Amino acid sequence: MNKLSPSILAADFWQLGEQISRVQEAGAHYLHIDVMDGMFVPSISFGMPVISSIRMWTDLFLDVHLMVEKPERYVEAFAACGADLINFHVEATEDVDGTIGKIRSLGKKVGITVKPSTPAKAVEPYLDKVDLVLVMTVEPGFGGQKILSSCVEKVSAVRKMILEKGLNVEVEVDGGITIGNVRSVIEAGASVIVAGSAVFKGEIDGNVKELLRRIGEAEESAGCGAE
Ligand code: DX5
Ligand code: ZN
Repeated sequence: MNKLSPSILAADFWQLGEQISRVQEAGAHYLHIDVMDGMFVPSISFGMPVISSIRMWTDLFLDVHLMVEKPERYVEAFAACGADLINFHVEATEDVDGTIGKIRSLGKKVGITVKPSTPAKAVEPYLDKVDLVLVMTVEPGFGGQKILSSCVEKVSAVRKMILEKGLNVEVEVDGGITIGNVRSVIEAGASVIVAGSAVFKGEIDGNVKELLRRIGEAEESAGCGAE
């Protein structure tokens, strides 16, 4: 089954708890949490205390996207504050294998992430060790950007490698996903859909329901969707 992972980067932080309850009630499966350090990406977002508070009040699956230099330094801290899945960028560390191992040893799901300029083959050596590959469909760092079509082709390439190896790995897309283009990324092979602006700008409940409807339609027509 394909999943929707609303990105709280686009939420109104004054009303964060209420807005998270709304996406949960409307049927979102995951919650996408963007951590930015001002080094790996130019901007700074939020970190552990915010995630701990969210964890206290919701049982939603917390999909944490670390846009952080040397993520291995923070894996324990993010596991302790309640992440269910820890995504880190392969470009941000010299020790991808060690970082995967560290996340696993803490009993958390592992995601590896690639920026638009990183080729699909960069994730190939790790596919049998991870739960998910996050293919950025915009340059990481800011919400509200337009999807890059070259990255949609990369989604197909990653999905093809996973199928050829007979693995059960999710492919997540993040950046510029809208009601209008969600079908194309699912047809390319995405199974976890991040949406920030498309969920939190406007009427949250209606946005989530419409995205879920489109995801369901695309899943039916593609006749697959990861387990
Ligand atoms: C960008 C973040 C995204 C962002 C997506 O660096 O990783 O998760 O919140 O926002 P939209 O859906 O508005 O492009
Ligand atoms: Zn993200």
